[in-house]
Amino acid sequence: MKHLMKHLLALMLCSAATCAVAADISIKITKRYLNLPVSQKEKRSVMSYTINGKEEQRFVIRLSANPEYWVFSDMSAYKGKTVKISFEGDATALSKIYQDDQINGQDSLYKEKKRPQYHFSTRRGWINDPNGMVFYEGEYHLYYQHNPFEREWENMSWGHAVSKDLVHWEELPVALHPDKIGTMFSGSAVIDYDNTSGFGKPGKPAMVVFYTADNPDRQVQCVAYSLDKGRTFTKYNGGKPVIDSKEKWNSKDTRDPRVFWYKPSKHWVMVLNERDGHSIYTSANLKDWTFESHITGFWECPDLFELPVDGDQNNKKWVMYGASNTYMIGSFDGKVFKPEGGKYYFSSGSIYAAQTFNNIPESDGRRIQIGWGRVPQAGMPFNNMMLLPTELTLRKTKDGLRLYSLPVKEVEQLCTPVKKWSGLSSAEANDKMKEFYDADKLRIKTTIKLSHATEAGFNLFAQRMVGYDMNFNMLNGMFYSPQDPTSMELTADIYIDRSSIEVFIDGGAYSYSMERKPDRNNREGFHFWGNNIEVKNLEVFTVKSIWE
Ligand code: FRU
Repeated sequence: MKHLMKHLLALMLCSAATCAVAADISIKITKRYLNLPVSQKEKRSVMSYTINGKEEQRFVIRLSANPEYWVFSDMSAYKGKTVKISFEGDATALSKIYQDDQINGQDSLYKEKKRPQYHFSTRRGWINDPNGMVFYEGEYHLYYQHNPFEREWENMSWGHAVSKDLVHWEELPVALHPDKIGTMFSGSAVIDYDNTSGFGKPGKPAMVVFYTADNPDRQVQCVAYSLDKGRTFTKYNGGKPVIDSKEKWNSKDTRDPRVFWYKPSKHWVMVLNERDGHSIYTSANLKDWTFESHITGFWECPDLFELPVDGDQNNKKWVMYGASNTYMIGSFDGKVFKPEGGKYYFSSGSIYAAQTFNNIPESDGRRIQIGWGRVPQAGMPFNNMMLLPTELTLRKTKDGLRLYSLPVKEVEQLCTPVKKWSGLSSAEANDKMKEFYDADKLRIKTTIKLSHATEAGFNLFAQRMVGYDMNFNMLNGMFYSPQDPTSMELTADIYIDRSSIEVFIDGGAYSYSMERKPDRNNREGFHFWGNNIEVKNLEVFTVKSIWE
C-alpha cells in the first residue's frame, strides 16, 4: 500500500437509496501489476487509466471492497509513469488497489481446484474464441477473446499467450485493448513477409492482425501491426476501419475477419462473416479490400483452408468452416468458394469458434486447430479454456471426403502409459480402473465391443464420457455410425482434465468435449456399462501438468 500515491478526489453522488462515490487515484508505476479487488455481487462501473492526460484504457469492472477474487492489469508498458485511475462507481474499494510484481493469488496460480492442468486457460478473467493464431520465429501465438477484469464476458480485448511446442503456454500482456471505435472482437493474424502493407521494416516483417471493433451501432473490420513478435501493436489509421459493411448487408452482424495469403494469385484473402454467411474479400496491401463473393449458411468465426486428400499433395480440396464446426468441402480460386457436397460436422460439445494456425512452415505442413472450450469453472477467478490443439486431415470415407481431427503429436510428451489390458468383461475393467478413482487428470484409450447390448458406454462418476446407442446410432447425443456400418466396436481416446473431458472416436472420425461434471453421490468412479460388452482394449496414461 505504501507504493501508492493517492489523491482522492471524491465526488459524492448521493440519493435516498444509494450513495456512490466517484473518485480517482494516481499511482506511480514501479511494479509490474496493478491488483484489483472484484466481486460478482457488485454492479459494473466504468474505470479508466489516464497517463499524461491521455486515456489509455477504459473498461467496466465490479470493483469491490469485499473482494470475491482479484484481477490484474499488467502495467509493464507504463513503468515509471503516473497513472490516474478514475472510477465512476462506489469508490470505497479504490484504496484497496495495489501494485506488486506478483498477481494477487500467485501462490496458488495454476493449482486452483478447477484449473485445467494440460489445457490453456488464462490466469484471471474470462476467455472465449481463439484469435490471431499464427506461427512466427519459433513461437505459436494464441490470442484470444478476453475479459481481464471479470470471470464473465465483457470488455472484449485480445489476450495473448505463446508456446514453443503447442502444449506449454506462457501468458503475455493483453495485446489489444478496446478503443473509441469499439471492443476487440475476433480476428486473425498474418506475417507480411513481402511488406505489401508497408508496415514492416527492412529485415523485420510485420505481424498484421485483423479484428472486429464492436460498438452498439456496428461492427467494423480494423487492422493493427506489430514489429516486436506480436508483443505490442499499433492500430492502423488510429484504429479506423478498413471495412464497414453494415449498410451493404443491412445488418450489424459483420465480423471475425480471417485473413491468409493466396499463393497462386499472390493476393491476400479475407473471409468475413456477414449476416447470413461468409464473404470473400481480396487485397494487395492488407488495407484496401475488394468484395468478391459470399456463401450463405455459416455464422461467425470463418475459416478457409486447403488440405490434401489422404495426404496426397497432388489432390487438394478447400474447406470452408463456421463457428459451430460445420464445414463444406469444395474448390476455391482465390475469389469464390464452390461447395462440392453438403454441410457436415466432425466435432461437437463444448467446442466453438475454432481457428487454425497461419504460417505453419511448409516442412511441417500440418493444419493445426484450437477451439474454445465452453467449459465453465464455477467459483474460480478464471473461466473457460482452450481445447487441445488438433491436427485436421481430409480423408476419403464411405460417405465421401470428411474432416478428421486428432490431438497434435506434441501432446504425447505429456502422456505416460501406465497400464494396458485386453479382453476384459465390464466388471473386470471396472475393477482394474479402481486404482484411478481419484485421478484429477488421465488419458484412457479403450475399445468396447457390443454383442447383446444395443446401448453401452463408459462413465466417470455417473457422467457419460461415452454413451453409444447402436439402435438410434447416437453417440453422446449426436448421430454417429462407424466407417464399417456393421461394426460392433467403438474406440475412444479420452482426455480427462480437472474441469473438462475430450473424446476422440475411431481415430478422429468424430470428437466431442464436455465439462467434467461428476455426480458427487455416485461411488462408481470409472464404470463401463452395457449388457455383456467386451472391453477389448484398455490403456491408461498419466498426464503431466503443463504448468509445472
Ligand atoms: C463467437 C463470437 C464472435 C465475436 C466474439 C465476441 O464466440 O460471438 O463472433 O467476434 O465471439 O467475443
